[in-house]
Amino acid sequence: MKLEAIPRLSLGYLPTPIEKMDRLSAELGISLSVKRDDFTGFGGGGNKVRKLEYLMADAVAQGVKVLITTGGHQSNHARMTAAAARKYGMKPILVLRGNRPDLYQGNLLLDHLFGAEIDFLDPDAYFTEINPRMAHHAAQAEARGEKAYIIPLGGASALGAMGYVNAVKELSEQYAAAGTPAPRYLVAPVGSGGTLAGLHIGCSLYWPDTEVVGIAVTGSAVPFSERIAVMANAGADLLDLEKRWTADDIRIENDYIGPGYSIPSDEGNAAIKLAGNREGMLLDPVYTGKAFAGIMGCVAKGSIEKGSSVLFIHCGGSPALFPYAGLLTSDLAG
Ligand SMILES: Cc1ncc(COP(=O)(O)O)c(C=O)c1O
Repeated sequence: MKLEAIPRLSLGYLPTPIEKMDRLSAELGISLSVKRDDFTGFGGGGNKVRKLEYLMADAVAQGVKVLITTGGHQSNHARMTAAAARKYGMKPILVLRGNRPDLYQGNLLLDHLFGAEIDFLDPDAYFTEINPRMAHHAAQAEARGEKAYIIPLGGASALGAMGYVNAVKELSEQYAAAGTPAPRYLVAPVGSGGTLAGLHIGCSLYWPDTEVVGIAVTGSAVPFSERIAVMANAGADLLDLEKRWTADDIRIENDYIGPGYSIPSDEGNAAIKLAGNREGMLLDPVYTGKAFAGIMGCVAKGSIEKGSSVLFIHCGGSPALFPYAGLLTSDLAG
Protein backbone atom coordinates (compact mmCIF):
# COMPACT_ATOMS: atom_id res chain seq x y z
CA MET A 1 0.00 0.00 0.00
CA LYS A 2 1.22 3.53 -0.64
CA LEU A 3 1.75 5.77 2.39
CA GLU A 4 -1.03 8.10 1.22
CA ALA A 5 -3.47 5.17 1.14
CA ILE A 6 -2.98 4.27 4.82
CA PRO A 7 -5.85 5.80 6.82
CA ARG A 8 -4.70 8.76 8.90
CA LEU A 9 -6.53 11.30 11.05
CA SER A 10 -5.33 14.88 11.16
CA LEU A 11 -4.34 15.56 14.79
CA GLY A 12 -1.15 17.61 14.57
CA TYR A 13 -0.51 21.13 13.34
CA LEU A 14 1.54 20.06 10.33
CA PRO A 15 3.92 20.78 8.74
CA THR A 16 5.94 21.73 11.80
CA PRO A 17 8.59 24.40 11.24
CA ILE A 18 12.30 23.83 10.68
CA GLU A 19 14.47 26.26 12.63
CA LYS A 20 18.08 27.06 11.82
CA MET A 21 20.18 27.24 14.95
CA ASP A 22 22.88 29.80 14.12
CA ARG A 23 24.36 30.21 17.58
CA LEU A 24 24.53 26.51 18.37
CA SER A 25 25.89 25.86 14.86
CA ALA A 26 28.72 28.31 15.45
CA GLU A 27 29.45 26.89 18.89
CA LEU A 28 29.46 23.22 17.81
CA GLY A 29 31.04 23.71 14.39
CA ILE A 30 28.20 22.06 12.46
CA SER A 31 25.27 23.36 10.46
CA LEU A 32 22.39 22.59 12.80
CA SER A 33 18.68 22.79 12.08
CA VAL A 34 15.85 21.55 14.26
CA LYS A 35 12.56 20.05 13.12
CA ARG A 36 10.20 21.47 15.72
CA ASP A 37 8.00 18.46 16.36
CA ASP A 38 7.62 19.81 19.88
CA PHE A 39 5.15 22.11 18.05
CA THR A 40 2.85 19.38 16.73
CA GLY A 41 0.50 21.01 19.20
CA PHE A 42 -2.22 18.51 19.93
CA GLY A 43 -2.55 17.53 23.59
CA GLY A 44 0.56 19.54 24.45
CA GLY A 45 2.50 18.30 21.40
CA GLY A 46 5.48 16.10 20.67
CA ASN A 47 6.46 13.22 18.39
CA LYS A 48 3.68 10.84 19.39
CA VAL A 49 1.06 13.01 17.73
CA ARG A 50 2.37 11.78 14.38
CA LYS A 51 2.14 8.13 15.40
CA LEU A 52 -1.33 8.69 16.87
CA GLU A 53 -2.60 10.07 13.56
CA TYR A 54 -2.32 6.52 12.19
CA LEU A 55 -3.13 4.56 15.35
CA MET A 56 -6.26 6.61 16.07
CA ALA A 57 -7.49 6.20 12.50
CA ASP A 58 -7.37 2.44 13.11
CA ALA A 59 -9.05 2.73 16.52
CA VAL A 60 -11.84 5.01 15.25
CA ALA A 61 -12.49 2.67 12.30
CA GLN A 62 -12.92 -0.19 14.79
CA GLY A 63 -15.45 1.75 16.90
CA VAL A 64 -13.21 1.74 19.98
CA LYS A 65 -14.63 3.04 23.26
CA VAL A 66 -11.70 2.41 25.63
CA LEU A 67 -8.12 3.27 24.68
CA ILE A 68 -5.36 1.71 26.78
CA THR A 69 -1.65 2.40 26.77
CA THR A 70 1.39 2.44 29.04
CA GLY A 71 4.55 4.35 29.92
CA GLY A 72 6.49 5.93 32.76
CA HIS A 73 5.12 8.53 35.21
CA GLN A 74 6.30 11.28 32.89
CA SER A 75 5.31 9.54 29.66
CA ASN A 76 4.63 12.09 26.93
CA HIS A 77 3.18 9.26 24.88
CA ALA A 78 0.61 8.42 27.57
CA ARG A 79 -0.37 12.09 27.86
CA MET A 80 -0.92 12.55 24.11
CA THR A 81 -2.77 9.23 23.88
CA ALA A 82 -5.11 10.32 26.68
CA ALA A 83 -5.81 13.57 24.81
CA ALA A 84 -6.40 11.72 21.54
CA ALA A 85 -8.81 9.32 23.24
CA ARG A 86 -10.87 12.26 24.51
CA LYS A 87 -10.89 13.94 21.12
CA TYR A 88 -12.59 10.87 19.65
CA GLY A 89 -14.97 10.23 22.56
CA MET A 90 -13.03 7.33 24.05
CA LYS A 91 -12.08 6.65 27.65
CA PRO A 92 -8.29 6.64 28.23
CA ILE A 93 -6.76 4.12 30.64
CA LEU A 94 -3.04 4.52 31.39
CA VAL A 95 -0.94 1.82 33.03
CA LEU A 96 2.00 3.80 34.39
CA ARG A 97 5.28 2.64 35.89
CA GLY A 98 5.62 4.02 39.40
CA ASN A 99 3.64 4.35 42.59
CA ARG A 100 0.89 6.91 43.06
CA PRO A 101 2.67 10.17 43.95
CA ASP A 102 1.46 12.77 46.46
CA LEU A 103 1.73 15.50 43.85
CA TYR A 104 0.65 15.10 40.23
CA GLN A 105 3.21 17.07 38.24
CA GLY A 106 4.19 17.52 34.58
CA ASN A 107 2.67 14.92 32.27
CA LEU A 108 0.91 13.20 35.16
CA LEU A 109 -1.00 16.38 35.91
CA LEU A 110 -2.00 16.64 32.25
CA ASP A 111 -3.10 12.96 32.22
CA HIS A 112 -5.37 13.78 35.13
CA LEU A 113 -6.75 16.87 33.40
CA PHE A 114 -7.57 14.73 30.35
CA GLY A 115 -9.58 12.54 32.71
CA ALA A 116 -7.45 9.44 32.25
CA GLU A 117 -7.95 6.49 34.56
CA ILE A 118 -4.45 5.79 35.86
CA ASP A 119 -3.35 2.38 37.08
CA PHE A 120 -0.02 2.78 38.89
CA LEU A 121 2.23 -0.27 38.74
CA ASP A 122 5.01 -0.87 41.19
CA PRO A 123 8.30 -0.23 39.31
CA ASP A 124 9.67 -3.67 40.25
CA ALA A 125 6.66 -5.48 38.82
CA TYR A 126 6.19 -3.22 35.82
CA PHE A 127 8.00 -5.11 33.07
CA THR A 128 6.40 -8.47 33.89
CA GLU A 129 3.00 -6.93 34.59
CA ILE A 130 2.37 -4.33 31.85
CA ASN A 131 0.90 -6.63 29.24
CA PRO A 132 -1.30 -8.62 31.64
CA ARG A 133 -2.54 -5.33 33.22
CA MET A 134 -3.42 -3.82 29.87
CA ALA A 135 -5.09 -7.07 28.82
CA HIS A 136 -7.04 -7.05 32.10
CA HIS A 137 -8.38 -3.52 31.44
CA ALA A 138 -9.28 -4.52 27.87
CA ALA A 139 -11.12 -7.64 29.10
CA GLN A 140 -13.07 -5.57 31.65
CA ALA A 141 -14.11 -3.09 28.95
CA GLU A 142 -15.14 -5.87 26.56
CA ALA A 143 -17.19 -7.49 29.36
CA ARG A 144 -19.09 -4.17 29.62
CA GLY A 145 -19.68 -4.32 25.88
CA GLU A 146 -17.12 -1.59 25.13
CA LYS A 147 -14.59 -2.19 22.36
CA ALA A 148 -11.04 -1.79 23.71
CA TYR A 149 -7.79 -1.00 21.88
CA ILE A 150 -4.30 -1.38 23.30
CA ILE A 151 -1.53 0.89 22.01
CA PRO A 152 1.88 -0.61 22.89
CA LEU A 153 4.54 1.22 24.89
CA GLY A 154 5.56 4.35 22.99
CA GLY A 155 3.13 3.59 20.17
CA ALA A 156 5.96 1.47 18.79
CA SER A 157 4.43 -0.56 15.98
CA ALA A 158 4.70 -0.70 12.21
CA LEU A 159 1.52 1.38 11.90
CA GLY A 160 2.71 3.98 14.44
CA ALA A 161 6.05 4.23 12.62
CA MET A 162 4.18 5.54 9.57
CA GLY A 163 4.01 8.87 11.42
CA TYR A 164 7.73 9.32 10.92
CA VAL A 165 7.70 8.03 7.35
CA ASN A 166 5.25 10.85 6.76
CA ALA A 167 7.52 13.25 8.67
CA VAL A 168 10.46 12.54 6.32
CA LYS A 169 8.14 13.07 3.34
CA GLU A 170 7.12 16.41 4.89
CA LEU A 171 10.77 17.31 5.51
CA SER A 172 11.86 16.43 1.99
CA GLU A 173 9.11 18.68 0.63
CA GLN A 174 10.13 21.53 2.96
CA TYR A 175 13.80 21.22 2.00
CA ALA A 176 12.96 20.98 -1.72
CA ALA A 177 10.76 24.09 -1.50
CA ALA A 178 13.61 25.99 0.19
CA GLY A 179 16.16 24.70 -2.34
CA THR A 180 18.22 23.16 0.49
CA PRO A 181 20.03 19.83 -0.02
CA ALA A 182 19.09 16.95 2.29
CA PRO A 183 21.02 16.97 5.58
CA ARG A 184 24.00 14.64 6.09
CA TYR A 185 22.63 13.44 9.45
CA LEU A 186 19.12 13.11 10.86
CA VAL A 187 19.27 12.67 14.64
CA ALA A 188 16.52 11.68 17.09
CA PRO A 189 16.21 10.29 20.61
CA VAL A 190 15.35 6.59 20.94
CA GLY A 191 12.87 5.51 23.63
CA SER A 192 10.68 2.76 22.22
CA GLY A 193 12.25 2.99 18.76
CA GLY A 194 9.15 3.69 16.65
CA THR A 195 10.30 7.15 15.65
CA LEU A 196 13.66 5.86 14.47
CA ALA A 197 12.07 2.95 12.57
CA GLY A 198 9.85 5.45 10.73
CA LEU A 199 12.81 7.73 10.00
CA HIS A 200 14.73 4.82 8.46
CA ILE A 201 11.84 3.89 6.20
CA GLY A 202 11.25 7.55 5.33
CA CYS A 203 14.90 8.20 4.50
CA SER A 204 15.06 5.09 2.30
CA LEU A 205 12.17 6.59 0.31
CA TYR A 206 12.86 10.32 0.30
CA TRP A 207 16.41 11.02 1.56
CA PRO A 208 18.57 8.01 0.63
CA ASP A 209 21.88 9.80 1.26
CA THR A 210 21.02 10.94 4.79
CA GLU A 211 22.32 8.90 7.74
CA VAL A 212 19.86 8.33 10.58
CA VAL A 213 21.44 8.48 14.04
CA GLY A 214 19.51 7.39 17.13
CA ILE A 215 20.57 8.47 20.60
CA ALA A 216 19.37 5.94 23.18
CA VAL A 217 17.87 7.41 26.35
CA THR A 218 17.15 4.05 27.95
CA GLY A 219 18.78 0.62 28.09
CA SER A 220 16.97 -2.32 26.56
CA ALA A 221 17.12 -6.08 27.03
CA VAL A 222 16.98 -6.57 23.25
CA PRO A 223 19.42 -4.15 21.58
CA PHE A 224 17.58 -1.28 19.93
CA SER A 225 19.28 -1.82 16.61
CA GLU A 226 17.65 -5.26 16.42
CA ARG A 227 14.20 -4.12 17.55
CA ILE A 228 14.21 -1.15 15.22
CA ALA A 229 15.28 -3.27 12.24
CA VAL A 230 12.35 -5.63 12.94
CA MET A 231 9.93 -2.68 13.19
CA ALA A 232 11.29 -1.02 10.04
CA ASN A 233 10.90 -4.32 8.15
CA ALA A 234 7.29 -4.65 9.35
CA GLY A 235 6.68 -1.05 8.22
CA ALA A 236 8.26 -1.83 4.84
CA ASP A 237 5.82 -4.76 4.53
CA LEU A 238 2.90 -2.39 5.14
CA LEU A 239 4.17 -0.19 2.33
CA ASP A 240 4.99 -3.12 0.00
CA LEU A 241 8.65 -2.07 -0.08
CA GLU A 242 11.38 -4.57 -0.83
CA LYS A 243 13.97 -2.81 1.32
CA ARG A 244 15.04 -4.71 4.47
CA TRP A 245 17.15 -3.69 7.48
CA THR A 246 19.40 -5.67 9.79
CA ALA A 247 20.73 -4.55 13.17
CA ASP A 248 23.98 -3.44 11.47
CA ASP A 249 22.06 -0.87 9.42
CA ILE A 250 20.71 0.91 12.51
CA ARG A 251 23.13 3.34 14.15
CA ILE A 252 22.40 3.81 17.84
CA GLU A 253 24.60 5.81 20.20
CA ASN A 254 24.40 4.21 23.65
CA ASP A 255 26.77 6.49 25.60
CA TYR A 256 24.27 9.18 26.57
CA ILE A 257 21.71 7.28 28.67
CA GLY A 258 23.32 8.53 31.90
CA PRO A 259 22.19 6.79 35.10
CA GLY A 260 19.07 5.33 33.41
CA TYR A 261 15.73 6.01 31.77
CA SER A 262 14.11 9.17 33.15
CA ILE A 263 17.06 9.74 35.50
CA PRO A 264 18.65 12.99 34.33
CA SER A 265 22.31 13.03 33.32
CA ASP A 266 24.81 15.85 33.90
CA GLU A 267 25.50 16.04 30.14
CA GLY A 268 21.78 16.17 29.36
CA ASN A 269 21.18 18.89 31.93
CA ALA A 270 24.08 20.90 30.51
CA ALA A 271 22.60 20.50 27.01
CA ILE A 272 19.21 21.77 28.26
CA LYS A 273 20.88 24.89 29.61
CA LEU A 274 22.99 25.40 26.50
CA ALA A 275 19.98 25.16 24.15
CA GLY A 276 17.98 27.49 26.38
CA ASN A 277 20.80 30.00 26.72
CA ARG A 278 21.85 30.10 23.07
CA GLU A 279 18.58 29.64 21.19
CA GLY A 280 15.67 30.02 23.61
CA MET A 281 14.81 26.38 22.87
CA LEU A 282 13.41 24.11 25.56
CA LEU A 283 14.75 20.57 25.81
CA ASP A 284 13.76 18.05 28.48
CA PRO A 285 15.74 15.86 30.92
CA VAL A 286 14.30 12.48 29.80
CA TYR A 287 14.67 12.53 26.01
CA THR A 288 15.74 15.59 24.07
CA GLY A 289 18.37 16.90 26.53
CA LYS A 290 20.17 13.54 26.46
CA ALA A 291 19.79 13.32 22.68
CA PHE A 292 21.26 16.77 22.26
CA ALA A 293 24.13 15.81 24.55
CA GLY A 294 24.58 12.88 22.14
CA ILE A 295 24.95 15.22 19.17
CA MET A 296 27.55 17.22 21.09
CA GLY A 297 29.40 14.04 22.08
CA CYS A 298 29.42 12.69 18.52
CA VAL A 299 30.75 16.00 17.20
CA ALA A 300 33.46 15.99 19.87
CA LYS A 301 34.43 12.39 18.97
CA GLY A 302 34.28 13.12 15.22
CA SER A 303 31.57 10.53 14.48
CA ILE A 304 29.51 13.51 13.32
CA GLU A 305 32.08 15.49 11.35
CA LYS A 306 32.64 19.19 11.92
CA GLY A 307 31.08 21.23 9.14
CA SER A 308 28.37 18.64 8.40
CA SER A 309 24.66 19.44 8.19
CA VAL A 310 22.65 17.97 11.05
CA LEU A 311 18.88 17.97 11.43
CA PHE A 312 17.71 17.22 14.95
CA ILE A 313 14.15 15.97 15.42
CA HIS A 314 12.87 17.79 18.48
CA CYS A 315 10.38 15.25 19.84
CA GLY A 316 8.86 17.49 22.55
CA GLY A 317 8.72 16.57 26.22
CA SER A 318 8.89 19.96 27.95
CA PRO A 319 6.09 19.08 30.47
CA ALA A 320 8.67 16.78 32.09
CA LEU A 321 10.88 19.77 32.92
CA PHE A 322 8.73 20.79 35.86
CA PRO A 323 8.94 17.65 38.02
CA TYR A 324 12.73 17.93 37.73
CA ALA A 325 12.86 21.57 38.86
CA GLY A 326 14.93 20.70 41.96
CA LEU A 327 17.68 18.98 39.97
CA LEU A 328 17.73 21.59 37.26
CA THR A 329 18.21 24.42 39.77
CA SER A 330 20.86 22.69 41.88
CA ASP A 331 23.32 25.34 40.63
CA LEU A 332 21.39 27.90 42.74
CA ALA A 333 22.26 26.14 45.99
CA GLY A 334 24.49 27.82 48.56
C1 LIG B 1 9.98 13.75 23.98
C2 LIG B 1 10.22 12.39 23.44
N1 LIG B 1 11.32 12.18 22.71
C3 LIG B 1 11.60 10.96 22.20
C4 LIG B 1 10.79 9.88 22.44
C5 LIG B 1 11.18 8.55 21.90
O1 LIG B 1 10.44 8.18 20.79
P1 LIG B 1 10.29 6.64 20.47
O2 LIG B 1 9.52 6.03 21.60
O3 LIG B 1 9.53 6.61 19.20
O4 LIG B 1 11.66 6.06 20.36
C6 LIG B 1 9.62 10.05 23.21
C7 LIG B 1 8.78 8.90 23.52
O5 LIG B 1 7.89 8.92 24.31
C8 LIG B 1 9.33 11.34 23.71
O6 LIG B 1 8.24 11.55 24.45
